[in-house]
Parts: sequence; C-alpha cells; structure tokens
Amino acid sequence: MEKLRIVGGTKLNGSIEISGAKNAALPILFATILSKQKSKVRNVPLLADINTTLKVLDSLGLTTLFKLSDHCIEVDGSTLTSIEAPYELVRTMRASVLVLGPLLGRFGEAKVSLPGGCAIGARPVDFHLSALEALGAEFKLEGGYIHGFAKSGLKGAVMKLPFPSVGATENALMAATLAKGNSRIENAACEPEIVDLAKSLRSMGAKIKGEGTSTIEIEGVSELNGMDHSVAPDRVEAATFLCAGLITKGKVTVTGINEYYLSSALKVLNDMGAKITADNDSVTAEYVGELKAVTIETLPFPGFPTDMQAQFMSLLTIAKGTSAITETIFENRFMHVPELNRLGARIRIQGNQAFVDGESKLAGAIVMATDLRASASLIIAGLAASGETNIRRIYHLDRGYEHIEKKLSSLGAKIYREFEK
Ligand code: EPZ
Repeated sequence: MEKLRIVGGTKLNGSIEISGAKNAALPILFATILSKQKSKVRNVPLLADINTTLKVLDSLGLTTLFKLSDHCIEVDGSTLTSIEAPYELVRTMRASVLVLGPLLGRFGEAKVSLPGGCAIGARPVDFHLSALEALGAEFKLEGGYIHGFAKSGLKGAVMKLPFPSVGATENALMAATLAKGNSRIENAACEPEIVDLAKSLRSMGAKIKGEGTSTIEIEGVSELNGMDHSVAPDRVEAATFLCAGLITKGKVTVTGINEYYLSSALKVLNDMGAKITADNDSVTAEYVGELKAVTIETLPFPGFPTDMQAQFMSLLTIAKGTSAITETIFENRFMHVPELNRLGARIRIQGNQAFVDGESKLAGAIVMATDLRASASLIIAGLAASGETNIRRIYHLDRGYEHIEKKLSSLGAKIYREFEK
C-alpha cells in the first residue's frame, strides 16, 4: 500500500497550474455516449476516476483512446454494443450512474448497478430516476440493478428537482438533448461543472439555454455529432492549493483558473484575513498575518462548496478563535475530524456542525484517509504540523488529484509518496 510522508513546517511559495475538473470531465465523458460519431475531450486530468470512467465506456463497447501526454481522450461512439454498466465498476465510482441519461436518450434502454452508498453518505439516486421518468422512462429495480426503458423514446417534459442535485441535473440534461420536443429542468444545480457539460453538449449540436441558473431549457434534436471540448479547470483542486499555501504562512498562485470558479471560497479566505489577488486566469492567496475564525455553511453553488469543507477545516485549526462549520449537503462528511484531532487539532462535532478551536499546535502522526477530500485536508494539516505525518489509504486521494505530491513539491513542500513497509 502506498502512503504519503510529509515533513511539515516549510512555507509554500510559487504558482501551480490547475488540471481539468474531475467533476466536469466525468459527466462530459459519459455525454460522448450520446453520439455515434467520434468525440475528443481535452484537458482531462490524469486520475483514477477517469480510468474507471474509461473502463465503463469500454464495458459498453465504445472505443476509447487516452493520449496521456496530451491529456486528451478520444471516444468512438459507433461501436457501442451494451447498455449495461456493471456492478464491479459502479461500486468503485458512483458517478457511473451518469450513463443512465445518455443511454436512455440514445437507445431507450439502460441497465446500471445501483451505486450503493459511499463513505460520505447514502447518496441515493431517486432524483435522477424521477427526472428521467418525467421524460417517459420506466425503471425496474432487480438484483441490485436499475433497468430503465423508454420503448418509444424519451419525450420532452418539465422536470422539477426536489433538490438542486448535480448528478440528477446532469442525467436529466443529457437525456433531454435527444428527447422528442422541449424540456425544462427546474431547481437545477448551477455548479460550473453543469455549465461546462452544457458547453460540451452544445459542441455536439444540442440546443440548451439557461445552464448555470436554476432553470435550464432544452430543445430535443434527433441526433448529435461528436464533441470537441476542453474541460474547465478544477476549482476544488485550486482551493486545496490555496489552503495549503496559507496554512504554511506562504503565498500560492493557482494558474489556469478564473476567480468566478472560486467566488464563495475566496470570500471566506478574505474574511479570514488572507490577501487575495486575481487576474483573468490566476488567483493568489497570501498569508499577511494571523488568520481569523469564520463561520461556514456548505450550500449548492454559488454557496460555499461541500467539496472544500474538509480543506478549510484544516486551515481553520490555526486561525485565531473558534470557527463553526455546518455541512448541509451530505450527512456524514466529517470523517476527517478524528484524523485531524490526531494531529493536534481540537474539533468538536455536534450533529451537522463542527466547531474548530483555533491556534492549534499541529504535530505529525500516522493518519488514515477516509475519502477523497478528507485526504486533502490531512495533507494540508500535515504541511503545517511539526515533524512527520504519514497518510495511509491514499488511493482515495488518487481518485481526484493529479500528481498532488509533485505539484506541492514544486511549491516547496517536503512530501514523498512511499510504500508502506
Ligand atoms: C457531485 O456529487 C460531485 N461528484 C460531488 O463531489 C459533490 O460533493 C456533489 O456533487 C455536491 O456538489 C461528481 O460530480 C462526480 P448531489 P452528486 O446529487 O451529484 C442527495 C467529490 O469529492 N441526493 O448534488 O452525487 C445526496 O445524497 C465529490 O469530488 C439524493 O438524495 O451530488 C446529497 O446528500 C464528492 N437523491 C445531496 O443530494 C438523489 O437522487 C447532493 O447530492 C441525488 C442526490
């Protein structure tokens, strides 16, 4: 098993190029199912979840080619031979449920293993299914699989989401592009990844308006061409590096990303007393004096992103005062807390709130990653802790961060990927 060993206490300085967004690349790769032509997806991050997505596309019979050095994936949609996403792939990556919309849109049938829960919560897919049922799909649940049918094809409809679910919006959007007639998604998610997916669909000839707002209008077309799209930057990776710079009292610039992607996170960093500057495609966060405690509540975009909660919690362990973090999106997204407390943080959980006492003296220890963003929070804390921190189960990390130790080392961090003896 691999682990990360961090020798804390070094100030991070410098700039780092942000990779393509995992949470945009995944739906966009599944969207290539919608066309029988060849698609090209650029600026794809080199991540475990991308490899899993390619395995899912391969299991459907699509021909895929990942030109690693170009970060470019080519998909040939003409060779699709199956409509089933198998259990052993779906259980490793719940985003595989995003094959539902494209398969139903193009073939009127889809079979996907129920994704099952994950560390951060039950994460059901009921909003996905009800949106697709509004378009005329029918579902049977058997043997742990969701089997969807739309015998006479999907028909345009109004889909009202009970919650602005990112995945449900993506499945609904992709399916509606090939439905007969017009559709509208109400209470849609507004995340930048939805905007990027809509852009990629438009490059295929889809007719979409309103992405990025809570109402998206789609005019169905009879077929779609292959896409040629470059994936938007990863705002969660960017925020992770800005927090890493600040906890070490340094100055880090993330390049290849505009502040639009980070607006609520930058407001919090500003309120904490960090010096934030930005130009069109870079953002800098500089430590200019003691950071102050803040109150954070995770919300759907444009609110504070749940995917940045763990990283900010680490940063707040050194701020002055006690911070309150309320997690409103997932029911169990505080598993990094006991691990951070092993590093000397003083964090108390009460229901969906975590209270973070500041001015902690962090000291290295052996800790265990429990999920993707929790892993990042342990790295951030380890960078500031005295002595050595060893992080185990870093396969969680490799799902969502491209070469993180190389990127952090280029900023001055003493971080090494090693094999657990
Ligand atoms: C996406 O997950 C992201 N994953 C998550 O990032 C992110 O945390 C989440 O959106 C929220 O922003 C990808 O894009 C691949 P949701 P998703 O549907 O689509 C409940 C990361 O670290 N819900 O917006 O699964 C759900 O349980 C990952 O990169 C239902 O109840 O999130 C959750 O409590 C983690 N029924 C809430 O809604 C449904 O049918 C938000 O989920 C769907 C969701």
